[in-house]
Amino acid sequence: MVEVNNNNNNKGSRNGHISHGHMAPASAAPLAFYNNLKSWVAAISDVVVFIIYCIGFIIQDLYYIAFGYPEKELKTDIALVTGGGSGLGRLLSMRLSKLGTKVVIWDINKPGIDETVKMVQESGGFCKGYVVDISRKEEVYKAAEVLRHEIGDISLLINNAGVVSGLHLLDTPDHLIERSFNVNVMAHFWTTKAFLPKMIENQCGHIVTIASLAGHVGITKLVDYCASKFAAVGFDEALRLELEVLGHTNIQTTCVCPFFIQQTGMFDDVNARWVPTLNANDVADRVIQAIKKNEKIAIIPGYCKFLLSFKWTFPWGCVGGLLKRLVPDASPHGLAQKSLLSVYKKVSSAKNAVMTATPTSALITDISAAYKDATSMTKAGTLLIKRSPSLGERVL
Ligand SMILES: NC(=O)c1ccc[n+]([C@@H]2O[C@H](COP(=O)([O-])OP(=O)(O)OC[C@H]3O[C@@H](n4cnc5c(N)ncnc54)[C@H](O)[C@@H]3O)[C@@H](O)[C@H]2O)c1
Repeated sequence: MVEVNNNNNNKGSRNGHISHGHMAPASAAPLAFYNNLKSWVAAISDVVVFIIYCIGFIIQDLYYIAFGYPEKELKTDIALVTGGGSGLGRLLSMRLSKLGTKVVIWDINKPGIDETVKMVQESGGFCKGYVVDISRKEEVYKAAEVLRHEIGDISLLINNAGVVSGLHLLDTPDHLIERSFNVNVMAHFWTTKAFLPKMIENQCGHIVTIASLAGHVGITKLVDYCASKFAAVGFDEALRLELEVLGHTNIQTTCVCPFFIQQTGMFDDVNARWVPTLNANDVADRVIQAIKKNEKIAIIPGYCKFLLSFKWTFPWGCVGGLLKRLVPDASPHGLAQKSLLSVYKKVSSAKNAVMTATPTSALITDISAAYKDATSMTKAGTLLIKRSPSLGERVL
């Protein structure tokens, strides 16, 4: 007879239970009792140690709240800010350079890069910019090599670049969904793989993930954006834990989750209620503070932490109702989105017209006009959003 050998069978026989019709030897009973006792003692001591750790960390936090968190200096750091050619990335670059950090920016928007570099240099800081499409991993690895040779080892990596499609899922073309994931989360893998080994070797480094509150709650018209930001939040948390488990406690990670920010160009004119949209300068200040204090997660504004706890406490009807009322329309800029959507619709109907041999000249003229209309609202052609003029800079 063939004996089936699986883990349960093994456990059964180890614990002295009757298995396969054989009686367990009498000496197995005390052994099983001893093994059970050992695992109970291990479990209880685990819980006790965990509780002691928790109390220790809570006391430490209360101490910091009362007397201030220790802050690190960033003047010897070399920072890479992805998406530094505009918005939050530009404001972070300005602030870091004021603190003495050498700043490198990667972006696809060349005029934006030039503007940031000029602004930082004019204020006396060090800044160098490169055109890098972070959604292409070969480009990231190649640019990382160049950066290492020309400037040095990155000690502060800020994964900030992001994109949004802002359409209902069924209206979102496949390539925009792929783009959301490639820029908002896959790129974090490539940049981290490119720079983490040197951070580990130098026993110093900090990886910042600019995620979003949309990485904790779902919002209509942001299905691809939310999914990619949820992934970015998970990336940060799992990476932090892995670094701790591997003993790389000198490498810090920070996950930044802001609500909608005004005037960066990404979510202009978003229709949000109750929670006011954020001032970009305030968000940039808060991010720098979180980096200096090695904070693990920065929810902006802070009171949204309590709103997030609602999600796990109340029935979906309450949570969904709140979210629907909080953000009735999350499309970044209604007009630009509608124009682009009409382009996609016209392109599809033109294709159908060709297939049914209908004259298409009128449709093609229409499409060019719609494209012109839509792109006139965007400074960076790859982004489906209206770009705001430069934000300028506020002293930290
Ligand atoms: N604006 C908001 O309301 C808001 C809210 C929460 C989180 N965020 C996040 O903050 C970050 C910064 O956003 P922002 O508001 O400054 O937007 P932004 O559009 O002003 O900046 C994004 C930058 O990323 C660059 N970029 C896009 N695709 C790229 C690519 N493939 N390679 C390199 N660079 C690329 C763009 O050119 C742009 O300069 C994003 O990750 C965004 O998701 C923004």
